[in-house]
Amino acid sequence: MKRKLIVANWKMNFAFDETDEWIKNFIAQYNANYTAMQNVEVAVCPPTYLISYLDAELLETSFFDIEQFLKAENKKVEDFSQDELMQIMIDATPFFLGAQDCHYENSGAFTGDTSPMMLSEMGVRYVILGHSERRAQHFETNEIVAKKARAALYNDIIPIICVGESKETRDAEEHLKFVFKQLIASIPQDVIFPRLVIAYEPIWSIGTGLVPTSEQILEMMDLIKKICKEKISNLADEFVLLYGGSATEVNAAEILSIQNVDGLLVGKASLDGNKFAKICLSV
Ligand code: PGA
Repeated sequence: MKRKLIVANWKMNFAFDETDEWIKNFIAQYNANYTAMQNVEVAVCPPTYLISYLDAELLETSFFDIEQFLKAENKKVEDFSQDELMQIMIDATPFFLGAQDCHYENSGAFTGDTSPMMLSEMGVRYVILGHSERRAQHFETNEIVAKKARAALYNDIIPIICVGESKETRDAEEHLKFVFKQLIASIPQDVIFPRLVIAYEPIWSIGTGLVPTSEQILEMMDLIKKICKEKISNLADEFVLLYGGSATEVNAAEILSIQNVDGLLVGKASLDGNKFAKICLSV
């Protein structure tokens, strides 16, 4: 069975002291629930300036992971090679690093942008692409999202491609048609993704407290799964489908129990380390 994936999208939030507080709270929960936390893959997408900061903090907590692992296996550090210890640290990392966007070029005259190559150098594993806030505020088209996804892939970063309809589109009952078109155009067709994450985030649900019914989520996840299988890749069974939009520690378990929901993309509720850990534990 696939491990569920829970992704924190911090958006444009957090100074250093708030980041420290978040880590303190999240890691305390992680350590207290170490075994349960191994059932879930966690990724945190902070603002770009915090990525390396988080990476350094992660290194410190990894020593705790090694201790836990050795205790569980009844082994000593000397029983492992450096490479094996490094792998243990990677496998047991409390969370992977993610980014909220990237450019589609690796370098060049693109003032203010961050390239996928730079993210890769910072140890980033996931990048959110085509979030509705970027589509609306930065005029990102499906074609740009597809170019970014291709560039991420070439830099060994797994894209999290966001799709989702507006309230008007849903009210007009055009949501299935809209997401169909958006998804096909946002995923490059000329490359093979060994792993790809697709996040269904209805715009009317983001930051509003409004969550679609289980039937509405199920209907959309079924459609996305079908499109991926029939139109995108014969590796589509390996793709990960996330739901995003007002997910909290209260509704997470219910949403995660819906068929084809492989995880969550969490905005506001991910800003509290304790609440976010609770969401991870509801897997
Ligand atoms: P929200 O945001 O959880 O605050 O609704 C989700 C997102 O924008 O990814």
